[in-house]
Amino acid sequence: MTDANSILSAMTISEKRLKHTLGVAEAAKELAKTHFPALDLKQVELAALMHDFTKEYPHEKQLELCAHYNLQLTEDEKNNPKLLHSKTGAMIASERFGLPSEACSAIYWHTTGKAEMSPFEIVIYLADYIEEFRDDAGCIKLREFYKKAITKELDKTTALHKTLVRSFDTTIKHLISQEQTICNFTVEARNYYINRLNEIKF
Ligand SMILES: [Fe+2]
Ligand SMILES: [Fe+2]
Repeated sequence: MTDANSILSAMTISEKRLKHTLGVAEAAKELAKTHFPALDLKQVELAALMHDFTKEYPHEKQLELCAHYNLQLTEDEKNNPKLLHSKTGAMIASERFGLPSEACSAIYWHTTGKAEMSPFEIVIYLADYIEEFRDDAGCIKLREFYKKAITKELDKTTALHKTLVRSFDTTIKHLISQEQTICNFTVEARNYYINRLNEIKF
């Protein structure tokens, strides 16, 4: 039976990433309690602890793991090591630690997001962005935005969807400023959640 300690003791990540990982676990449990109380908090915690499990693996090792798990990669993914750790982390979470499929799916999608995310996928995706130790400008702004939205908005779903849209906007603007490609899943996610907000408005 997998518990937090068995994941933490198997990890080979820096102090900074460990702090971030523990921050994601706390933020994900808070998001689950606020928005999706039916989620199993123990499983949410384990998925959060696993989400960056392979993030510091060298690119070559990521590619080897992708081949081992027979993961089909797009050109963008082959060229961008950041996009691979979500996939390889999800595979290891399933095969080595026996996490349930909904937890593995949340790890798989935590970097790009996607349209119509499950509650589990949303809490891991967003916790990764707004956990308290992330100190880059985009994350700080999004964390503040969410805190305000959750107190200001009449319903929690609107606050959540507005925060998701803003997260995708932040990512897309950053990628453009860095002259990097934008993953189609992130664009689809942005459009999907804007449409959900417009549904409420009209
Ligand atoms: Fe990550
Ligand atoms: Fe992360």
